Amino acid sequence: TDWRDLDLRVSCSLYASFDELPRETWSGFDLYKCDGFWYLPPHLVAAMEAQSSFKARDDDVLLASSMKTGTTWLKALIPCIMDPYARLVNDDDDGMPSPRLFRTHLPYTKLPESIKSPGNSKIVYITRNPKDAFVSLWHFFNSIRTVEQGPLPLIQMFDKYCNGVHAFGPFHDHVLEYWKESVKRPGKILFLKYEELKRDPRGEVKKLALFLGRPFGKEEEVDKVLWRCSFERLKSLEVNRNGVDPWVGFPHTAYFRLGVVGDWKNSLTEEMKERLDQITSKKMEGSGLDL
Ligand code: A3P
Repeated sequence: TDWRDLDLRVSCSLYASFDELPRETWSGFDLYKCDGFWYLPPHLVAAMEAQSSFKARDDDVLLASSMKTGTTWLKALIPCIMDPYARLVNDDDDGMPSPRLFRTHLPYTKLPESIKSPGNSKIVYITRNPKDAFVSLWHFFNSIRTVEQGPLPLIQMFDKYCNGVHAFGPFHDHVLEYWKESVKRPGKILFLKYEELKRDPRGEVKKLALFLGRPFGKEEEVDKVLWRCSFERLKSLEVNRNGVDPWVGFPHTAYFRLGVVGDWKNSLTEEMKERLDQITSKKMEGSGLDL
C-alpha cells in the first residue's frame, strides 16, 4: 500500500490521511505533523504499525531520543552493560532472544501502549543541549549532500528548528514528554543528558547499569565498558569508517563527528544562541529540567 493511502485514524487523532496533515519541506524532505510532532512518512507508518502490533516483554529495553543527542553512544553502552559478550543488536523483532533492545526517535505519546504500560520493560532516554543537537543535526544532513548542492542553509534550518520543524520535532516537547514521565516513574524511565555522560562517564554509566538491573561488580568492568564504547574506538572501527546507512545513505562517519560539548559556538551567532536559549528557558520553565 502507498503510505499516502493509509488510514491514519489509529495514529493521528485529528486526521484521516496524509493529505490532510500539515506539511513542511525540511532538509529536502517532506515532513508531516501529527498530534503535535513532525515526521517523515516512513516513521509515522512504522509508529502506526508498532502501535497495533508491538507487544513488550518484561525485560525489554527501549532507547529513546531526539536525533543527534547521543543515541549512538547509548546504543553501544546498553548492550555492553546488558551482555558484555553481546553482538550488536539487530532490529528484527521476530525471534529475538530476551532481553531485547530497541531504539526509537518517536515521542513518548507515539510509543506503543504496551511498552508504556506498568510492566517491567524499561526506557532509557538521552537528551542534549538543543544548540549542540541542532548543529549536530545540520552537519548530519549535510553529510548526504553533494559538493554541488553545498551545505543546507544554516539560517533557514535554524529558523525551522526554533519553530519545532524538524524530524521528530519540536525538540523541547519531545524532551519534556519523556522528562515528565521519568519524574513520575523513575523506575520505568531513566533520563540521561549527553553533557553529564561526558562530564562524569563513570558515574553515569554506573547509574545506567543499576537502572538496567546489571550493577557492576568491579571498577575494571566500568573501565572496560567505557573503553569499548568510547568515541575514539567506535569511530576507528572499519564498519564505521566505511559503512553507509542503507536507509537514506548517511555515511557511518557522520555518526561520529566531533563528540564534544559546546561545538555550537563554531556555527551559531550570538543572536541565534540568544533566540534558542530563550525558547529553551521558556519551554523548560517550571519543569525542573535544565538543558
Ligand atoms: P556531534 O555531531 O556533535 O559530534 P546520535 O547518535 O543521537 O545521532 O548523536 C550523534 C552525536 O553523538 C554526534 O555529535 C556524535 O559525534 C556523538 N557521538 C557518537 N558516538 C559517541 C561516543 N561514543 N561518545 C561521545 N559522543 C558520541
